[in-house]
Amino acid sequence: MSSGRILPTRIGRAGLSLLPGIERLYRGSDNGLDQLALMPTLLLICGALRQGSLNRKLLVAAGQRWPGDTVMADLDMPLYNGDIEEAEGIPEAATRIKRQIEAADAVAISTPEYNQSISGVLKNALDWVSRGEGNPWRDKPVAIMSATAGRAGGARAQYALRLALNTFQPRLLTGPEVMVANAQKEFDSEGRLVGESYQKALEALVGKLASEAVR
Ligand SMILES: Cc1cc2nc3c(=O)[nH]c(=O)nc-3n(C[C@H](O)[C@H](O)[C@H](O)COP(=O)(O)O)c2cc1C
Repeated sequence: MSSGRILPTRIGRAGLSLLPGIERLYRGSDNGLDQLALMPTLLLICGALRQGSLNRKLLVAAGQRWPGDTVMADLDMPLYNGDIEEAEGIPEAATRIKRQIEAADAVAISTPEYNQSISGVLKNALDWVSRGEGNPWRDKPVAIMSATAGRAGGARAQYALRLALNTFQPRLLTGPEVMVANAQKEFDSEGRLVGESYQKALEALVGKLASEAVR
């Protein structure tokens, strides 16, 4: 697949070899891939707010390997405060992301590692989304990944994220693990993921997520 696409992305025939589950689904179709009826939507959730976030770049790379449309969520919302909830209700940004999770066929979350755990921004969004009616995560196919400056690539943050998500009962993929260590060196000047082993792991993870989303 070309890695320089702009979101939302769609794959062509060449991209199918990267996505074994999807290939199985469409093998034998007379219509060809240009007329696919099934175009699953992937919601991308970045645990960092900054524009230059390495985790955002990793999610863009994931989106470029997704066989459908992608949407990048915005986690910029007030800190959870029961007084705000009582006086003003759930913030618009939290309601929006809740609807985006509901509408998505699958979700990919990339978390930074802050002091061996997930960011406050990500936990705050999870907490807001848990308020009000309904649980948009239930049975939702979810893949997690991380990019960090450290050598462990966010392994501890990923475990913390698994714990934080468990209560919502998503269909959380167990692997393959995508943990980009020393991530400041792993993206080129145009934001593309350069390491071959990371590219392969990401393709495998996104392929598995896509299979889960359409089954
Ligand atoms: C408050 C804070 C705590 C951090 N703790 C860790 C850590 O425990 N492990 C690690 O690998 N990197 C840690 N880092 C470095 C981050 O991995 C690095 O800033 C990374 O680029 C953040 O993700 P982003 O690029 O998506 O913003 C920390 C950074 C900050 C700001």
